[in-house]
Amino acid sequence: MKKTYLTRYLVEQERDHGHVPPGLRLLLEVVARACKRISLAVNKGPLGDVMGSADSANVQGEIQKKLDIIANEVLIEANEWGGHLAAMASEEMEGIHVVPNRYPQGEYLLLFDPLDGSSNIDVNVSIGTIFSVLVKPEGAGVSEQDFLQAGVKQVAAGYCVFGPQTTLVMTVGDGVAAFTLDREQGSFVLTQEHLRIPEDTKEFAVNMSNQRHWAAPVQRYIGECLQGRDGPRGKDFNMRWVGSMVADVHRILTRGGIFMYPWDQREPEKPGKLRLMYEANPMSWLIEQAGGLATDGKRRIMEIEPSHLHARVSVFLGSRNEVERVTGYHRAESAAPGQAAA
Ligand code: AHG
Ligand code: MN
Ligand code: MN
Repeated sequence: MKKTYLTRYLVEQERDHGHVPPGLRLLLEVVARACKRISLAVNKGPLGDVMGSADSANVQGEIQKKLDIIANEVLIEANEWGGHLAAMASEEMEGIHVVPNRYPQGEYLLLFDPLDGSSNIDVNVSIGTIFSVLVKPEGAGVSEQDFLQAGVKQVAAGYCVFGPQTTLVMTVGDGVAAFTLDREQGSFVLTQEHLRIPEDTKEFAVNMSNQRHWAAPVQRYIGECLQGRDGPRGKDFNMRWVGSMVADVHRILTRGGIFMYPWDQREPEKPGKLRLMYEANPMSWLIEQAGGLATDGKRRIMEIEPSHLHARVSVFLGSRNEVERVTGYHRAESAAPGQAAA
């Protein structure tokens, strides 16, 4: 069987659709190379001094794991010298990282969650890297303000999941493609193109331990799922929650499902736990490109104008009909508060 490698896929995307100019191709190749290095570190585990916590917290006050920091450094080092980027932003850094003066400045902005699923590192469960690419607006220099663009402006997005296989999944606007790392060759090989998410599903992913803190529309939606074939849905549901968004989204891209991380009343001023620019936007674009939907309960996630770099958001994404249903419950609740949960 003839193999298609990442570079060929990107060259052909440019030839067929003209949306992967050489600078963007270089960027995506460099991100893929960085993901290979992170994958190697992940695989070494206790043999590579990558387990456990570092003595630091990130801007969100979360204790950083050693691998959060290693992955962040790998992505920065790999990307800063190529001339394709103007700056980077990461879940693990408070401010943006502008490409140093000694290197040429390119036209792209790269955002990433260097290591998603940190709580799974030490227990040998799938984790990943999530990335999103924007174009720097015209004008001299680069600032944090340049990053504050809605998800619809992304020109590339993807993730690499480090599981039983290392799989790179990306979109440049022409569907979703998956590449599996061939470890002997050190190359990403195209293994699936035009992924499609089934419109219906019987599988939901949510952290059920937070149930009592959710708002009425989410209580209603999950309550109905839990009633199974005896309830209004008339079918039994299954639940999966890996605790790594990359792994949960990868399952949904593969066989359908709905993923939720809703607002909850413990920290009412926070719209949600997940980060709009490093997690929700790239995953939303992949999901939409595969025929699914992604909302914050009311709005399409990709149309939200970010208020700041580390903005958070509620997330409902996956199989179209389920996301439409839970979004509908939110809209009904806003129209007649208290009634929708009945
Ligand atoms: P991160 O490891 O980058 O901080 O992200 C963790 C996120 C996401 O991957 C996952 O879906 C969710 O947090 C898990 O949250 P719970 O700990 O509430 O299960
Ligand atoms: Mn994450
Ligand atoms: Mn992370």
